[in-house]
Amino acid sequence: MSIFFSHFLLSLSMFLAILLFLLPPAEGANSTLSCYDDQGTAVDWFYLYKLPRPHEEPTEEGLKYLLLEEKSEGWVNGSVLVGEMAGALGRTVGPLYEEGELGYILYNDQPPEEHHSENAHSGGHTKGVVLFDSRQGFWLVHSTPHFPPPKTAGSFSYPSSGVYNGQNFICVTYPLERFETIGEQLKINQPHIYDCHIPESVASSVPTMVELCKHGHVGRSNSSAPLASSSPANRSASLLSLAGKEFISFAKGAAFENDLYHSWVAPALQADLLVQFWRRSTGILDSDCSPAYKVLNINLLSPGQHLTFKATEDHSKWAASVSGSWVCVGDINRNEAEEKRGGGTVCQQNSVVWKAYRTAALKCDSCSGSVEECEAALLY
Ligand SMILES: *[C@@H]1O[C@H](CO)[C@@H](O)[C@H](O)[C@H]1NC(C)=O
Ligand SMILES: *[C@@H]1O[C@H](CO)[C@@H](O)[C@H](O)[C@H]1NC(C)=O
Ligand SMILES: *[C@@H]1O[C@H](CO)[C@@H](O)[C@H](O)[C@H]1NC(C)=O
Ligand SMILES: *[C@@H]1O[C@H](CO)[C@@H](O)[C@H](O)[C@H]1NC(C)=O
Repeated sequence: MSIFFSHFLLSLSMFLAILLFLLPPAEGANSTLSCYDDQGTAVDWFYLYKLPRPHEEPTEEGLKYLLLEEKSEGWVNGSVLVGEMAGALGRTVGPLYEEGELGYILYNDQPPEEHHSENAHSGGHTKGVVLFDSRQGFWLVHSTPHFPPPKTAGSFSYPSSGVYNGQNFICVTYPLERFETIGEQLKINQPHIYDCHIPESVASSVPTMVELCKHGHVGRSNSSAPLASSSPANRSASLLSLAGKEFISFAKGAAFENDLYHSWVAPALQADLLVQFWRRSTGILDSDCSPAYKVLNINLLSPGQHLTFKATEDHSKWAASVSGSWVCVGDINRNEAEEKRGGGTVCQQNSVVWKAYRTAALKCDSCSGSVEECEAALLY
């Protein structure tokens, strides 16, 4: 009897040991944090172009999007509308609203449920989502006001304020080790953080995220200034994705006081740039042909060549190089006010991505002030 019983105990403990070995770690156990495509496949990165709603078309037209990921040969129509859980954006950001000890930072100069008095004219002009666990996660940089909802909202959704205009998203999956560098870049950007949490279990890997979450959380006017003092005015950082692809983050703070694209990104990439940005504000910077590299404002676009729209209907902020196959997607417009605000862009050198963005630029402002095909506009 006792032999039988001890044998039973031995088997039981072996069984338990094997069970423990097979179970994934408790934290973030349910889902792998990653960028996901429309089919629910974890992807190393994607670019998402939310299309503008053409005048007098139904709301649904303003929720359509194009997607580009590593497997694609160019823009592919989104398989659902942008706010649905079954789409790339919902599948990627959705895990934020589930149970589990996840590290996250949500930042946006136009946060959800913004009170009128809080309108952000200080701090970084920067929008994004960082979500990670003890293994990996993603950094999503985007242009959409009031997006995404805070965790307390309980579920993913896309705001009505993001329907009319075009919007851009770049999502990259990174291993945990990259999030400290991402935190340092964010800190330079002086983000308005409206929701965040960094669990104890990962805190020692991401001290800058901890600092951002602690100090960047309460009150916009106070939050960024003391943080910024310990950061440089600008810094670029090479970030290797989970699959080892190189992305370059350009981050600037208020002290940079110059045009991100002409003064820094173009010379750094050693290429002329075509830049799409939000035109409907004051102090817009003209196309710039002064030495050394030209930066032209895009005027008319057609990503995917189905819908053609003006830059005035597109809130996206992106740049495509004229040579060298670079694409950058970020937060900063070309205007005087944003020379003095934090923000940045994330660039990748990839010929498929480049072709998708470069062919989206139909017309540009030449440096003589005329609107022409971008190739012709570059000749001035
Ligand atoms: C895990 O995912 C399943 C299916 O998505 C869900 O029903 C369940 O509640 C999740 N469990 C936890 C602990 O999050
Ligand atoms: C993608 O969408 C556009 C506009 O809605 C449509 O004209 C086009 O046929 C679609 N392409 C494919 C491959 O479904
Ligand atoms: C803002 O910062 C100033 C100076 O650092 C401090 O005196 C004040 O209490 C802060 N206000 C808030 C709301 O934290
Ligand atoms: C900051 O920007 C300038 C261009 O304005 C550039 O030359 C310099 O290398 C940048 N600094 C860092 C640390 O990247």
